[in-house]
This record gives sequence, structure tokens and C-alpha cells, in this order.
Amino acid sequence: MGSIVCETPFDQEQTAPTFVGSLEVPNVQEIVRDNSSSVPQIYVRDQCDMPKATEITHLSTDIPVIDLSLLSDDNIEELERLDQACRDWGFFQVINHGVPSEVLQNMKQNAEGFFNLSLEEKNKFSMPPDDIQGYGHAYVVSKEQKLDWSDALVLVTMPQEFRNLQYWPTTPVGFKDIIDTYSKGLATIGEQLLSSISLNMGLQRNTLLQEHKGISQALRINYYPPCSKPDQVLGISPHSDTSSITILLQEDHLHGLQIHHNDDWIPVEPIPDALVINIGDVIEIWSNGKYKSIEHRAVTNECKARMSLAAFLFPNLDKEIEPFDSMVKSQDMIKNYKKVKYGDYLLNSMKRKLEGKTHTEMAKN
Ligand code: OGA
Ligand code: NI
Repeated sequence: MGSIVCETPFDQEQTAPTFVGSLEVPNVQEIVRDNSSSVPQIYVRDQCDMPKATEITHLSTDIPVIDLSLLSDDNIEELERLDQACRDWGFFQVINHGVPSEVLQNMKQNAEGFFNLSLEEKNKFSMPPDDIQGYGHAYVVSKEQKLDWSDALVLVTMPQEFRNLQYWPTTPVGFKDIIDTYSKGLATIGEQLLSSISLNMGLQRNTLLQEHKGISQALRINYYPPCSKPDQVLGISPHSDTSSITILLQEDHLHGLQIHHNDDWIPVEPIPDALVINIGDVIEIWSNGKYKSIEHRAVTNECKARMSLAAFLFPNLDKEIEPFDSMVKSQDMIKNYKKVKYGDYLLNSMKRKLEGKTHTEMAKN
């Protein structure tokens, strides 16, 4: 997402905050359309930043899979598996999550329909210089920084009163309705996960939900065109998410997402109709670092465009976040993070390029 200027906390005035977007950069899909073998130097990474074949381990199958229907029954073993997943991986996939396969497939088809439109059509929803929503690029803060091999459509989807429909595509017809259905489905998943994580943190079931003061949701649909030199570019630079929780929908049979685990980059193998969950910075702070907001990135491939739909769940911008006492007690009374206002944290991170976890320093003790 771009840089943000947010003067108004969400609950004082029921309008979405205003943002300042990032610098304008070329449309990657058009670069490929014009010349499929062209890879401008600004996208070419230092080789040390790129995956080496030997680094990609076979640990993908170890990334936990959590059954959400068991969590909704407060199944003790599943709660323990969730605790372990948040602690050891920061990433897991959920199945039996309640969002129908048809809704997931429909979202992907509509998103593909949108990205397949002409640039002129897509630019009717383009991200202006003073906003973070719309079709364009985020986190570009200097003319020198290496660029990601992707384009994106960003929308604030929840709460409903923050929606800015001027950015919501009118083609394909019905896309807006399906985004509405999808984001409501994800809100229910988010509530379930936050309740279970609350219990696992030794808090009341509702504590994390209440700490959000209303869960907000932003959707970023990433489009990674094929690249003739996939071993020289990154689809999205390594970063951790500033959310509390991120819910990602991948394509069923296309790799791209990799997570940083024990000094390796591990691909997250798509499971059809599952959703990928990752713990964001907010839960890392609330849990005093017990649960990890893991660095991740996306790589591209030579043959086929890939899409991913990342929904970021986050607290009200005026909420102050800091480790819960229950989590500090269990870790020798040291608070690893200081109190920060979430809006300030987000603003700070959005003024920077994506660069691992460097943006989390402002909250570290
Ligand atoms: C993101 C992200 C990964 C992917 O949008 O924050 O990490 O697989 N995307 O596209
Ligand atoms: Ni991410």
C-alpha cells in the first residue's frame, strides 16, 4: 500500500481515511504486452536477493493446515495446533472455513476478467496520487528503488461505510457484488480466528475482537505477469504485513508465495479452496513476539500470469497497541514492544518501501 496521511480516526467521522499514494511507475502487464522478453533494469535484483535452487526446501508440506470448523467447536487439539502454527510458522492454511468454493472461484474469475481489460478500461479505476485505493502500485517511495514485477487493485472493503465505490470495477458486471459477499465471508473467518487466538493468548474470547474496535478490511488483488527472467525479478519484495491477520486466496495450481522460515524461503503449496492465513505485525506485538509476523515474498514464472487476493484485517486507526500483560508474564516480564497508535504505525510503514521487517523497528523496545 502507498503512504498514508490519516488525520481522522475511523470512529470519529464515518468516512474512510484519506491516503497519499506512491510514485507513479510503469504498468508491468503493459511492459510484457509490448515486448514479452523485456525486463527493464529497475526490476532486476541483486542476485543475492534471489532464490537459489538449493534454498528451496521441501518443507512446504509441513506448513500447518487448520480445520476452522473444529476451532468453532473449541476443539482443544485444534486450538493447540493453531497455537503451534502461530508460534512456529506464523503462516498456515485453513480448510472447512465456510466460504463456498463457488464464491472463491467467482472472485478469481472476476479478478482475472478485470485484469484482462485494456489499460484504458482499468485506468478508469486508477489509484490517484493522493489515495492508496484503486488500480496501480504501492510502496514506491523513491525513483531509485527496485520495482516489483506486479500490478494491483486495492480496495477498502470493510466496514461498509468506508467503501469508496469510485474504485470498485464495474466490469466484469457483478464483480462488486461478489467482492461484497467475499469480504463478509472473510470477516466471519477473521472473527473466528481472533476468538481462538484470544483464548490461546490466555485472554477472554472477545478481547482481540474488542481491541480492534471494529475490524477493518482492505483487499489487494495482486497480478503478477509472466516474466522472461523469473530468476532476476521479484513479484513482491520481502515484507511482513502490517495487519492483525491476512487472509490470502491463491490460484489453485500456481506457486509464487514463499515464506521465510529458518533461513529458507519455503513455497506455500496451494490447496484448492483453502485460504492462506498469516499472522500480521499487530498480533506479533499483542503477543509480545510469541506469535510471529513472518517475512514473505512472491516470485514470478515464465509461463503464466499469477493472481493472489490478499485481505488485510486491521484495528481501528486510533487504537493503541502493545503487548498484553498475559503474554509478558509468560516471557520473563520483558516487553519487547512499546505502545504505538495503530494509525501512526501504519503511516510509518506506508511511507517506506517494502523491506523485510524494517518498518517494525518503531514499535520495538
Ligand atoms: C501481499 C502478499 C503474496 C502473494 O499482498 O501482502 O504478501 O502470494 N502477497 O501474492
Ligand atoms: Ni504480504
